Amino acid sequence: MSESNSRDETASHQSPEVETPRGVLAIRQVAMPANLNSGGNVFGGWLLAQMDLAGGITANDRAQGRVATVAITAMEFHLPVFAGDVLCCYADVTHVGTSSLTIHVQAWVHRRNGTDVDDLKVTEGDFVFVALEQDGSKRVVPQP
Ligand SMILES: CC(C)(COP(=O)(O)OP(=O)(O)OC[C@H]1O[C@@H](n2cnc3c(N)ncnc32)[C@H](O)[C@@H]1OP(=O)(O)O)[C@@H](O)C(=O)NCCC(=O)NCCS
Repeated sequence: MSESNSRDETASHQSPEVETPRGVLAIRQVAMPANLNSGGNVFGGWLLAQMDLAGGITANDRAQGRVATVAITAMEFHLPVFAGDVLCCYADVTHVGTSSLTIHVQAWVHRRNGTDVDDLKVTEGDFVFVALEQDGSKRVVPQP
């Protein structure tokens, strides 16, 4: 169950025909040649880092303060990403525990294809964050 389903800024609209991004746009970034692996596609570690940043921004907002990533689960790489793709990471708060928050992060790309632009879901995963005190110990996530 998504926490943000009832919020106006939610961009999630599933239909039987066309899938659209789930959650709130948290970051956009251009994939650069420096982010490629030896096979010529964007390195999975770079994609993970962007998704972690997107989830972290959302978790930080929801937890009203510092968070740390404690786990990444259910990570899927659906399609390759190429240099020049505009990576768009969407984040959706799916669970709030005592000190933890789970954020479902989807990465989509805008890919220019001649005069057309394709929007493609390339990766998704569940990122678990823990709300932290300034000393690094866990704290309770405040009520929204
Ligand atoms: C985050 C940290 C302070 C938590 O330490 P802790 O006090 O031992 O935490 P706990 O084991 O009690 O777990 C805290 C919460 O995280 C959840 N959690 C811990 N490990 C988890 C895992 N592998 N998967 C899912 N949830 C997990 C627990 O269920 C708990 O949730 P709840 O409070 O909502 O019930 C500690 O693990 C830490 O510092 N980890 C390193 C974080 C880090 O450096 N991340 C990378 C850079 S951001």
